[in-house]
Amino acid sequence: MIPSAPIASLRQEYGDAPLDPASLPADPLAAFLAFFESARAAEVPEPNAMTLATSTTDGPSARIVLLKGVDDRGFTFYTNYASAKAKELAADPRCGLVFSWVEIQRQVRVRGVAEKVSREESEAYFRVRPRQSQLGAWASAQSEVLPSREVLEAEMRAVTERFEGRDVPIPPHWGGYRVVPSVVELWQGRRSRLHDRVRYTRIAEGWKKDRLSP
Ligand SMILES: Cc1cc2nc3c(=O)[nH]c(=O)nc-3n(C[C@H](O)[C@H](O)[C@H](O)COP(=O)(O)O)c2cc1C
Repeated sequence: MIPSAPIASLRQEYGDAPLDPASLPADPLAAFLAFFESARAAEVPEPNAMTLATSTTDGPSARIVLLKGVDDRGFTFYTNYASAKAKELAADPRCGLVFSWVEIQRQVRVRGVAEKVSREESEAYFRVRPRQSQLGAWASAQSEVLPSREVLEAEMRAVTERFEGRDVPIPPHWGGYRVVPSVVELWQGRRSRLHDRVRYTRIAEGWKKDRLSP
């Protein structure tokens, strides 16, 4: 067993940058973008990495995916439409996202519903991916059991040969999802664990903001 004491004793005192509902924008997207920019400015590695939580018949499931676009419609990521997460989203599109920027003592949580982006949007993004990533999308039956690494590498060689000398088309089983948010929460670490939390909740007229107890 890994001893838990060294982990339990890890403790970081957070700073005193306030997060005040009154001075935050009315729209959570604007607030998210400001947070995201602060993570980028602080050179947080892969600030667009976010944990995506879905529901399965056996309980929750979570994994990291990369945010590839955000606008007033929601948060977009790309994946395999036959993967475990895609099957879970087909059965229950309600999901959660978490951005963890511990370097700047910030977190963003999102709850919403995932919908597939348009085919044109997926194609436009697929076209700008590096060729090796495009080929990888064809080679990998994401989430399926693989008998060995060699089988995957042989598949990669086969698709590399198949598309030699021409553009790699988007696989029919690959594309984007947009998580349309209903709740967005910004979290700012503060001293003595008296953190600031601001939750945006979608209402008929737009969004309402609440300060939550840490
Ligand atoms: C930093 C990081 C970024 C990732 N980005 C993606 C991504 O954008 N899309 C994706 O399908 N998987 C991505 N993955 C892999 C997923 O975490 C996961 O292993 C994969 O999507 C299969 O998940 P599933 O079996 O639950 O469908 C990423 C993993 C890491 C660690």
